[in-house]
Amino acid sequence: MLTPEAIAASKDSITTLVVGANRGIGYELARQAKERGQKVIATTRTPSEELNGLGVRVVEGVDVTKDDDVRHLDDSLEGVHLDRLIINAGVLKRSSLTEPDFDAVLRQFQVNSMGPLRVAAAIHHRLRDGGKLAILTSRMGSIADNGSGGSYGYRMSKAAVNAVGMSLARDLADRSIAVALLHPGYVKTDMTGNTGHVTPDEAAGMLLDRVDDLAMEKTGVFWHANGEELPW
Ligand SMILES: NC(=O)c1ccc[n+]([C@@H]2O[C@H](COP(=O)([O-])OP(=O)(O)OC[C@H]3O[C@@H](n4cnc5c(N)ncnc54)[C@H](OP(=O)(O)O)[C@@H]3O)[C@@H](O)[C@H]2O)c1
Repeated sequence: MLTPEAIAASKDSITTLVVGANRGIGYELARQAKERGQKVIATTRTPSEELNGLGVRVVEGVDVTKDDDVRHLDDSLEGVHLDRLIINAGVLKRSSLTEPDFDAVLRQFQVNSMGPLRVAAAIHHRLRDGGKLAILTSRMGSIADNGSGGSYGYRMSKAAVNAVGMSLARDLADRSIAVALLHPGYVKTDMTGNTGHVTPDEAAGMLLDRVDDLAMEKTGVFWHANGEELPW
């Protein structure tokens, strides 16, 4: 049985990188990971006073759709050994059957599907063996769970990132790096027009619990933040 001091000491040694952390769920992930005693590195596309105010290390100028930006992130992590990489950045753009917007569909692929792949490809070598990688997906990417249709680009891009996550789980297994695809719930953020069932604060707390729970026996899991396993 670990003493509270030993638990605190082991948490102190966790270094977590949150990609896309200036607002919404990503900001809360960075804030609460720090509150839990983790060393946090947080990225943002543009300078953010709120994020700078957290007292975590911030890497600015990281657009997940741009190779140069992600290379700059990798360069800035020289000498850093990550225990956890959480890729949160995402966009939701409307595209319906009656009003299809194919540019919006493509943009969502670029950010939601290729963004996490680009980040993982560039940064996975910074993760320690035995580390953890989590990607924020959505249950809207579940084909089995699609009971309402529509949202073409968002659903397609999140289904695609689920495929990315499963391949990462397979490719990183020999280094005992466990991978999770995490649905945060329906969260009150800019993305949802501040409608939803839970606050970013509540969602981030549950998501960090899931990352704590993640182990190789569960690699490739598609989890709701509440711990429910979701259908593909
Ligand atoms: N809210 C929900 O109910 C819900 C449900 C299911 C899944 N999710 C997923 O959870 C994640 C966070 O969502 P949220 O609700 O917190 O959304 P949000 O409030 O709209 O925040 C989105 C975050 O992603 C960043 N981002 C967007 N495009 C980016 C790019 N090209 N490069 C780097 N960063 C970029 C944004 O940065 P900028 O400020 O620079 O744009 C912002 O930090 C997303 O992956 C989303 O799909 C959310």
